[in-house]
Amino acid sequence: MKRQTLVPLLLLGLMLSATAGATVVDELLGEYRAAGAGGFSADRGRALWAREFTGEAGAPRSCVTCHGNDPTQPGRHVKTNKPIDPLAPSVAPRRLTDGKEIEKWFKRNCDWTLGRECTPQEKGDVLTYLRQL
Ligand code: HEC
Repeated sequence: MKRQTLVPLLLLGLMLSATAGATVVDELLGEYRAAGAGGFSADRGRALWAREFTGEAGAPRSCVTCHGNDPTQPGRHVKTNKPIDPLAPSVAPRRLTDGKEIEKWFKRNCDWTLGRECTPQEKGDVLTYLRQL
C-alpha cells in the first residue's frame, strides 16, 4: 500500500479508537436527549446524588446510602454490608463502560432510593456528574 494511503488510514484508526471509550455514556446521553431531556448538568447530578428520599419505615435513602458521599471512594451496601467499588471512572476504569449494566443498576437503584425510576434528565445529570470525576 502507498504511504499516501496508509497514513490517512492509520489516522482514521486512531480517531476511531480514541472516540470508542467515550461512546457508552455519549450514546446514553443521546438516548436521553431523544426522550426529551437535555442541558445535562454535573451540579444537578451531584445534588441528586446526595438528595434524601423517604424510604420504608421513614428512613432516609440516597445514592450516598450505598455508594458514599464521594464516588471516588468505595461504598458499602446498606443491606448486605458488601463493599462496592467506587463509581468514578478515574479510579475505577471499568465504570460507565457498559450501557446495559448502567441502565440495569439505574433501574434497580432508583426504584429503591426514589421509589420510582429515574427520569432521562436525572440519569443524564448523574452520568454527567460521575463521568467527570
Ligand atoms: C441499596 C444500595 C444502593 C443504592 C442506594 C444505590 N446503589 Fe448504585 N449500585 C449498587 C450496587 C450493589 C451496584 C452494583 C455493584 C457494582 O457494580 O459494584 C450499583 C451500581 C451502580 C451503577 C453502575 C455503574 C457501572 O458502570 O458499573 C450506577 C450508575 C449506580 N449504581 C448509580 C446509582 C445512583 C445514581 C444511585 C442513587 C439514585 C444509586 N446507585 C444508589 C447499590 C446501590
